[in-house]
Amino acid sequence: MRAADIIIKKRGTGSEKGKELLKEEIEFLVNGYVDGSIPDYQMSAFLMAVYFSGMTFEETGILTGCMLNSGETINLRSFNGMEGPFVDKHSTGGVGDKISLPLAPVAAVLGLRIPMMSGRGLGHTGGTLDKLESIEGYNVNLDEKQFASIIARTGFAMMGQTDKIVPADKKMYALRDVTGTVESIPLITASILSKKVAEGSDALVFDVKCGKGAFMKSEDDAEKLASFLVKTAQSMGKKSCALLTRMDSPLGFKVGNYLEIEETLECLQGNGPADVMELTYELGARMAVLGGKALDTEDGIKKCMAAIKSGAALQKFLENVKDQGGDPEKLMAEQGKRRSKFKDEITAAQDGFLSVDAYKTGIACISLGVGRNKASDKVDADAGIIFHKRQGDFVKKGETIMEVYGKNSESLASGKAGLENALSFSSEKPENKKLILKEII
Ligand code: URA
Repeated sequence: MRAADIIIKKRGTGSEKGKELLKEEIEFLVNGYVDGSIPDYQMSAFLMAVYFSGMTFEETGILTGCMLNSGETINLRSFNGMEGPFVDKHSTGGVGDKISLPLAPVAAVLGLRIPMMSGRGLGHTGGTLDKLESIEGYNVNLDEKQFASIIARTGFAMMGQTDKIVPADKKMYALRDVTGTVESIPLITASILSKKVAEGSDALVFDVKCGKGAFMKSEDDAEKLASFLVKTAQSMGKKSCALLTRMDSPLGFKVGNYLEIEETLECLQGNGPADVMELTYELGARMAVLGGKALDTEDGIKKCMAAIKSGAALQKFLENVKDQGGDPEKLMAEQGKRRSKFKDEITAAQDGFLSVDAYKTGIACISLGVGRNKASDKVDADAGIIFHKRQGDFVKKGETIMEVYGKNSESLASGKAGLENALSFSSEKPENKKLILKEII
């Protein structure tokens, strides 16, 4: 078998799309890439061929399986006889999307066990691990034993992908990030699912984002991705469903690594923004149903609300902070006080109804120091934004729209310019679109 022949088969001729690959061909490429016999340039060409020609549902399942088998999988049930149900949620990424942080403790209060293997900021989107690391001492580099023992004790743990888990995705993802091949439905499906199956979940709920600040801009593409994720997960023996949710403007009032931890505390104290709470409850309810802890979505929502109201979810979150090396008392004491000294404000340039572009906000946040331009960049814990006015609000000229915090004075100035460019004003109230567009089961 020759890599070049497989690339040509998937590439097609230009006027004609490439053909469906055999299991042996996909295995040959993935295994060869992991063992070093297939070089980066051939894998890059293959990924671009998939980007343009796509993959069938069957090919996507085979690719996911090959990537999963490239490394170890975590068996949580082998840890001191721990019992499930193990249920996780995965978001395809957005701006201000901190839902995993309030959701994991809420789901744990309901009796689910959540083995959450998360990622870092990617492109314009934020990453759960970067946010957690803004808590002094919080350790996301857990080994399998530590991961399992924290789940056994508190109900959930949050860790990053290790070198042993899905090494094929680690290598392929790094290549996709720099070869313009991220936004491909089969490649995203295989990347996400190989990791989620490896972490040991029995059931998976997907939050598939759609809109300006999402990887999938159109509802059609987002729906196709959602159904690929759900169907492929089900074909691998996992219970699964997805919500298609809007990501045109940032979620919540706070964007930034520590600022999103702070907003998580507000959610768990019962003062969270309506959009963040809606997603937390709706996704939590689906997790509860799949894990057998709620009769239906309505029952699940009630249980999630009760977990917040009683204070039990806040307690769980603080227990987890302690379990993973942070100091819960310090975290609570700095709430509302911890701010970067490099601060400015953006005021309304004119009267009108405000629109906030999530993609442009995410890019401006990279300039502030929230995210990275290249993999070796260090993120800043305290950079970010606090919105005073949000999408759809009417603002008067000169009114404060947001507080802006930078890593240093240069990053503050360039981030602020980017944020000003993310705002627009209109005399007509923008349509109040629904946050949850569809459910895919
Ligand atoms: N997140 C992932 O883990 N992989 C992708 O391909 C896209 C988002």
